[in-house]
Amino acid sequence: MMQKKVAVFRKEHFNAAHRLNNPNWSDEKNERVYGKCNNYNYHGHNYDLIVQVTGEIDPETGYVMDMKILSELIKIEVLDRFDHKNLNLDTEEFKDLNPSAENIAIVIYDRLRHKINANFDLKIRLYETERNFVEYPVG
Ligand code: NI
Repeated sequence: MMQKKVAVFRKEHFNAAHRLNNPNWSDEKNERVYGKCNNYNYHGHNYDLIVQVTGEIDPETGYVMDMKILSELIKIEVLDRFDHKNLNLDTEEFKDLNPSAENIAIVIYDRLRHKINANFDLKIRLYETERNFVEYPVG
């Protein structure tokens, strides 16, 4: 018989600077497509991150996943790497990858996916502003 699955969520927060720019485009096109996010000298966002882990409840603990462990994992894999950093200049991940919310969500997913039991589903929701947010993977 299938155990019931439950989704658990951990919300975290980090600040980071970035610049969205496509070096293959003219300055005018970059400005048109990315607007303020193309600002030459970078700018900051207050990112809200929600990590969703879905799986069966461990009958011994009553937990899907120990939130202390999930919290520590996010700290090591995400916050320690990206909080108060310039994503373009300070991180390997975004040296050649545009640090859009979409790409940041995928990078975070890939970092955490390796560290979380494969029996669990993982989903990342990343808010770049209160009104703009992305989710990965879809479905
Ligand atoms: Ni921006």
